[in-house]
Amino acid sequence: MSVVPAPRWRVAAGGSVAGTLRMPGDKSISHRALMLGALAEGDTHISGFLEAEDCLATARALASLGVQVERRAPTEMLVHGVGMHGLSPAEEPLDMGNAGTAMRLMMGVLAPQRFDSTLIGDESLMRRPMERVAVPLQMMGARIQTQEGRPPVRIRGTPHLRAVQYSVPVASAQVKSAVLLAGLYASGITRVTEPAPTRDHTERMLGAFGASLRREGRSVALDGGIGLRGARVSVPADFSSAAFFIVAGCLAAERPLLLPNVGINPTRTGLIELLRRMGADIRVREIGAAGPDAEPVADMEVRRSSLRGITVPESLVPLSIDEFPVFFIAAACANGETLVRGALELRVKESDRLAAMAAGLAVLGVEHQLLPDGLWIRGAGSLGGGAVESRGDHRIAMAFAVAALRARAPIEITDVANVATSFPGFLRIARKAGLKIEPL
Ligand code: S3P
Repeated sequence: MSVVPAPRWRVAAGGSVAGTLRMPGDKSISHRALMLGALAEGDTHISGFLEAEDCLATARALASLGVQVERRAPTEMLVHGVGMHGLSPAEEPLDMGNAGTAMRLMMGVLAPQRFDSTLIGDESLMRRPMERVAVPLQMMGARIQTQEGRPPVRIRGTPHLRAVQYSVPVASAQVKSAVLLAGLYASGITRVTEPAPTRDHTERMLGAFGASLRREGRSVALDGGIGLRGARVSVPADFSSAAFFIVAGCLAAERPLLLPNVGINPTRTGLIELLRRMGADIRVREIGAAGPDAEPVADMEVRRSSLRGITVPESLVPLSIDEFPVFFIAAACANGETLVRGALELRVKESDRLAAMAAGLAVLGVEHQLLPDGLWIRGAGSLGGGAVESRGDHRIAMAFAVAALRARAPIEITDVANVATSFPGFLRIARKAGLKIEPL
């Protein structure tokens, strides 16, 4: 039975965390496994699938496009691939819920089809920028219309796309991935160059599904017109979910906190580097990756450490982009000043995460300055309590739950339902870890 999450949480101040915590499957990899599985010939078995609202939105969208997606167990999916040209038109607009990744990657999948599609989402997704994906796809000959840059995204299917050479202006794995997915259908070599490395799950998985692609420095080149074949995908635990407990461990693990089987793809783990620079004791034991396309996985161990503020190198921003909400909590609990710049992208996530975190830190009495592209924080060692707005953003809600470990008074967090988009078991796991968290 699924329980509808309560709209608010109350987290008691203080306490400690310990134990072995199994994190849910990786969201980025789960989305991609469903999509590539759908476009492949033959079956794709997905284990460790993230059974969260975002990935279920992708599964539902693919089902509306005629793909049989069987849920064998909560974390086991079997996708019966229809092949590159086997999708059929959906009767209704495809509702991608809160999931930016689902919408943007599906733009790449749907642009080269022989039918038209419309993509919509929830209130947050309907505000998010989509032109960044529409522009390169239009260069390939796709016909896509947004509403002043935002959803609904209306796609006139155009089966004969041209390969492009595209330099992505902002570091975005979603843009890169959408162009590569459309490139599967284009004649010739599609080459995407990024301004800085971003998560490379699409490239790895395309390789594992039989696509022909090469990495050339900051570029990836894909040969169009080559079909995919179904594969077995074993999804590691999501580093971005583990991040909340990595920081919780740094703040309050009197005994070691263990996180088994976490994905440690180096394009995702910037947070480890940042926390180590702050003085964190994080141990990572890699448990082997089979082959060049496999996702690296590790058991992690975290202990309480006294953290000091740092200046975050801009090169690490894309490698820790989803972890800033909880990183800012670490910074607020550290001694000394922390400065993050070059993080403008945080303003166009599920919420404006710079503004949301600044507002919450103000409630907790943390001295900070909101900058156009970042945040300056003077760490205070401990925090006050109060009522913090999550703005319906899952990562803001979970970050402030972790903050309570170092608070002097309870923290109340509003509008937490969207935690189910990425981490449906958060409340249970947080309690198991030692957080005193109650739904209101
Ligand atoms: C994602 C890429 C990132 C990240 C998002 C997931 C992906 O977005 O923030 O949570 O799965 O490709 P951008 O591509 O907008 O940076």
